[in-house]
This record gives sequence, structure tokens and C-alpha cells, in this order.
Amino acid sequence: MGTVIAVASGKGGTGKTAFCANVALSLCALGEKVLLIDADVGLRSLDMVLGMTDSLLFSYGDVIRGTATLKEAAVPHPQAGGLRVLTAPGEPTEEGSFSREEIGALLDRAREHFTYILVDCAAGLGKDVISFAVEADRVVLVSTSDYTALRSANRTAGLLNEEGQENCAIVVNRLRPGMIRAGDTANVDRAMNATGLSLLGVVPEDESVIAAGNRGVILAAECYGAAAQAYVNIAKRLQGKRVRLLKNVPGRWDS
Ligand SMILES: Nc1ncnc2c1ncn2[C@@H]1O[C@H](COP(=O)(O)OP(=O)(O)OP(=O)(O)O)[C@@H](O)[C@H]1O
Ligand SMILES: [Mg+2]
Repeated sequence: MGTVIAVASGKGGTGKTAFCANVALSLCALGEKVLLIDADVGLRSLDMVLGMTDSLLFSYGDVIRGTATLKEAAVPHPQAGGLRVLTAPGEPTEEGSFSREEIGALLDRAREHFTYILVDCAAGLGKDVISFAVEADRVVLVSTSDYTALRSANRTAGLLNEEGQENCAIVVNRLRPGMIRAGDTANVDRAMNATGLSLLGVVPEDESVIAAGNRGVILAAECYGAAAQAYVNIAKRLQGKRVRLLKNVPGRWDS
């Protein structure tokens, strides 16, 4: 049975989609069979980031409604063997979002065929985000080190706890050591204190993440820099391996 990981944030633009694409590709490179679900209804972007814009015909809405099978709708990535992508409906459904039971059943079907299922959630605390997050085995909250984003992550984790999902961890994204040293943004310790969440990993600010996303190419194949390494480390931790935090990360580990 595969593990479902919902990737959420609260605040928008914190790096959820970049995280999902790169961690999914890293898990595949480690030999896993991965399904990536874009759950950002109406604002999907994983297809662009992964260079698959023209290949995704059916959405997870079609699978839930029975107009396509999971195999038909989950499209293989052109380069990464082992990765399939299931996109979000292009428009919100007329009848509103899907029920928690329908989303739970979709994830159960995915668990039978994949070892990891990553769900790229929409920003905010909409009904679908909560359904995916509560039906997942664990939740990763991606936040920048800005206090506004950290507070959103804290608020999101609190709400998910109330709904019954207590397995939440944080990834602090776009870390800028210079700003941290100047005291202009939270370090890793402060980020953990502000959210009360355990740390799954950190990803440094790295322009190659933006470039790879804009060009729809695989980051690790183009530029194996600090961010690519950070995503691989996080993928290994999701597999249960112990991997040290990247060097030069200010906070608990810098003294
Ligand atoms: N570690 C990083 N270093 C530099 N840029 C990054 C990093 N992570 C993400 N970005 C960039 O930040 C922008 C927002 O990232 P992304 O689209 O992944 O956020 P998101 O949380 O999915 O946004 P939304 O809430 O709108 O879905 C993108 O241009 C992306 O390339
Ligand atoms: Mg996104």
C-alpha cells in the first residue's frame, strides 16, 4: 500500500508545486513508483512545471466520476520512468467540490498502484484541501521563513488537527542565510517555534528552481545545486532514511 502525502501551506506561493515536482522526481530516481496529483482546481500548474502541458487530457474529477480510469488519466512523465501525473479539473465543478468520501476512495485506488502519492494542494483552507489533507497519511506544510507564511502554516496545521489529521511536518523553503544572519527573517529554530511543527527539511533559495519550472525541465538533471540536493534529502527522509540537514543552514545546527 502506498503512502499519501498532501502538500499544503495556507499562504499562497510558498513553493508547494516546486516541492511536489522535485520531490516526486527525486523519489522516482530512488526507485519509487510515484503518482503526483495536482489538486489546485482551476489554477493547476504542475503540468507546466513538469513540461507536460499538452499531454494531460483527463483530470482526477473524471476518475471520480468514472469517465476515465486511473490508468487512463494518470499520464506518464516523458523522461522520469515511474512518475505519473493526474491533473486537477480545469474548472471548479458546477455542483461544487467533491466529497471527502469520494476523495478518500480516489486515494485508496492510488495507494494500490503507487508507492508514494503526492498531492499538490491549492493555497488556503478550502474544502478540497481539507479533504485531501485529512484523507492523506501525512501532511507536509511548505512555508517560507516569513512570519506571515509561518503563521499560515501554523493555522493550517491547527485546523487539520481539529479535523483529525495530526501527522503534519514543515519544510522551510527559500532559506536565505544572509537575511537570517542579518536578523531579517526567521531561522530554522524560530520557524519551528512559530509553527510548533517538526521539521522535514529545508530548501535554500535557488534560482535554478525558478528556471527549471519556467522551462518545464527536470531540475536535478539541469543543475544539481543546493535546492536539488535538498529535495533529494527530503525524498530520502520520506522513505524513512536518516539524512543530515544541509550545511550552512542558520539555526539550531549552526553553532
Ligand atoms: N527554493 C526556491 N528557490 C527559488 N525559487 C523558488 C523556490 N521554491 C519555489 N520557488 C519559486 O517560487 C514561485 C512560487 O512557487 P510555487 O508555484 O511552487 O508555489 P506554490 O506554493 O505552489 O504557489 P500557489 O499557492 O500559487 O500554488 C515559483 O516561481 C517557484 O519557481
Ligand atoms: Mg502551486
